[in-house]
Amino acid sequence: MNVSIRATLSELIHIDNLSISAGEMRLVDALSLTLRQGTPLTILGQTGSGKSLLAQAIMGLLPESMTVSGSIKVDNTEVLTLSKTEREALWGPTLAMLPQEPWHSLDPIMKSRQQVTEVFQVVNNVPAPQARARATEQLTHLGLGQALHRLPGQLSGGMAQRVAFAAATAAGGRILLADEPTKGLDHNRRDQVVELLQGYLHQGSVLTITHDIDVARKLGGELLVMCEGKIVERGNTQNVLTNPQADYTRQLLAAEPRNWPDTTAPAFKAEKDQVLSADNLGLQRGGKTLFNDLSFSLHAGEIIGVTGPSGVGKSSLGDVLLGNLKPNAGSVQYANPFTRHRRLKLYQDPPAAFAPGVPLQRLLDELMRLHRIDPSRVPPLLERLGLMPSLLHRPAESVSGGELQRIALLRILLLDPVLLFADEPTSRLDLITSQRIMTLLVEVARETECGLVIVSHDPELVEKLCDKTIKLQERQP
Ligand SMILES: Nc1ncnc2c1ncn2[C@@H]1O[C@H](COP(=O)(O)OP(=O)(O)OP(=O)(O)O)[C@@H](O)[C@H]1O
Ligand SMILES: [Mg+2]
Repeated sequence: MNVSIRATLSELIHIDNLSISAGEMRLVDALSLTLRQGTPLTILGQTGSGKSLLAQAIMGLLPESMTVSGSIKVDNTEVLTLSKTEREALWGPTLAMLPQEPWHSLDPIMKSRQQVTEVFQVVNNVPAPQARARATEQLTHLGLGQALHRLPGQLSGGMAQRVAFAAATAAGGRILLADEPTKGLDHNRRDQVVELLQGYLHQGSVLTITHDIDVARKLGGELLVMCEGKIVERGNTQNVLTNPQADYTRQLLAAEPRNWPDTTAPAFKAEKDQVLSADNLGLQRGGKTLFNDLSFSLHAGEIIGVTGPSGVGKSSLGDVLLGNLKPNAGSVQYANPFTRHRRLKLYQDPPAAFAPGVPLQRLLDELMRLHRIDPSRVPPLLERLGLMPSLLHRPAESVSGGELQRIALLRILLLDPVLLFADEPTSRLDLITSQRIMTLLVEVARETECGLVIVSHDPELVEKLCDKTIKLQERQP
């Protein structure tokens, strides 16, 4: 076999001059890339730059309203000219995709183990008992041994992500597309997912989209950096990360939280009003004690960080603080009990917080009418959040993950929160946008005297922004 034929055979995906447009708008511009057997390819980049659209184009999942030109070859077959049925036949045996929102790939009324068992049964024809055993093994390996019989709605964000991973990979396709597969996971779990992705290199290759530079670094292989629909830099991952050439890549790397200014205000609590005091809080869920004897106070304008492994109960603590979940022990006392509607949560999973199919502007209009909010507040906030006003004409499913996260924040800021529980507010954002949004959140909290609770897996972010930290620890059931 001559060298050039071998080179083509090792190409699992070859994309040439791909452009994707929605009406007049060019969302992906003349993009070319190659995914080779055994070499991971990772895409870093700006939120809204077309990364997820690229993954959807490879799968054949773009909305029909979009126009596509150029070429996408999967296993040397041009897929853009295939029929819908022919493309769908590739899902599972050839192409596996872990979508950006795990909830989209999970059946809400099917328990975790069954979701994975079905893939073994239906796609790989494994008999039921063996399929169940393999599903149990796979989920246990991912740290989900206790969640086999839970429905997606009973899982934490990080847990749902891992169930989706198990289900996506069970059919054994050679090409795995992973769109932000480690979003919302603690560092241990994140590293486990990276190992799983690396494990895939034996059977094919992995194209990973991520905002986490450590994930890119650990995966190695090749790196592409995207900004505004274009690839602005490409090369060997270590080279690009240590010696970036494009201005955008340099700015992105400089925006890691360890380089952020320290904005904590350790001494400020004495002179400020209390928003709430939590006294000896205890919570059990699913037969497991999440926390016990937890006491602290939150003052106006104060910023508290909550850290701890995936599934430890951080979001549940938020529900207790917001008064949406009754603790098993202790209580939360609010300084002003009449501000219930201004105690708010920025959801970890923004798509779950928006009605699908309805233009975002209409949802916002309803909110403003209901709460008598002056609409002239919207344009300056959009600008501060780095969002184009035209995004609001579309429904939630037609904007990017990071754009929707910021629209969720916009909606909350209009309600002038006195208490804001922000669950992983940066997990869907590139580092530059992440720094911009966190700076905005901190400024708003300080200016408007809102008590802010930030959940994050990034200890450096918490250290730079939070006046105090609550560390939740894993407990034995
Ligand atoms: N149905 C649609 N119609 C018009 N524009 C769309 C549609 N879906 C997505 N877009 C736009 O295409 C651009 C690229 O979206 P995409 O989801 O690929 O971004 P991304 O790079 O994955 O961002 P993130 O990092 O935030 O997930 C965004 O500006 C988004 O608003
Ligand atoms: Mg995306």
